[in-house]
Amino acid sequence: MSNERKIIRLPDAAALAQAAAERLIARIEANGGRAAVCLTGGSSPERLYRLLATEPYRNRIPWRRVHWFIGDERFVPPEDSRNNMAMARRLFLDVCAPPENIHPIPVQAGTTRDAARRYEIALQTFYGSGRLDPARPLFDLVLMGLGPDGHTASLFPGDAALDERARWVVGVAHANVEPLVPRVTLTLPTLASCREMLFEVSGADKRAILARVLEGEDLPASRVRSLGDTVWLVDTAALPETSHDT
Ligand code: 6PG
Repeated sequence: MSNERKIIRLPDAAALAQAAAERLIARIEANGGRAAVCLTGGSSPERLYRLLATEPYRNRIPWRRVHWFIGDERFVPPEDSRNNMAMARRLFLDVCAPPENIHPIPVQAGTTRDAARRYEIALQTFYGSGRLDPARPLFDLVLMGLGPDGHTASLFPGDAALDERARWVVGVAHANVEPLVPRVTLTLPTLASCREMLFEVSGADKRAILARVLEGEDLPASRVRSLGDTVWLVDTAALPETSHDT
């Protein structure tokens, strides 16, 4: 296990999305069997999702053997535009992936707690065990984004979800940022169970919070790590001037 965070600098958002697509395809290719990708919400991955539905990327993905999960969800109906999986479905999954390979968080459940339990069972059934084995990661790739307060997935600073070690998925009553709706999120050990965790950070409005992460402040996005590789794709606009990581 490497605790190091690798930072890769890209000139702009377009190059960053291409680099992310290449890394995603490389992880799928490295797994000759059933591959699992955990997607993220927010605006950062939109460009990547569009690319995946576009040639030459679309043709390079063996869609039948790739399963798509989501790291966190806003507790709004599946057709609501704020729903994270709805965004991924609209941008690439619905036109490319077999429906049975798309695994949304069940927001139709009565409460975030029920939705979390049901998603936990879905993940454990897919994995074939209720215990995560460090030698056998759940996901090939986990995509992540960086929020303005240092949150990632729906793990917000100071929230109890951040300290959860037993549950794979939990409900979060209050979000720190818009949209201010309850959330459901995978927990740190679940997100860590991957061969690669890949952050996409782009644009000047991310620079201040990225500086805080790189300075080592205790924020959710600073804490989260893969058991395998943790890679941050950062474009020039987002990279703090004092940073020497590239
Ligand atoms: C969500 C996300 C969240 C997101 C960050 C960054 O549900 O909102 O999963 O963790 O990744 O807030 O969001 P942007 O990409 O929109 O900046």
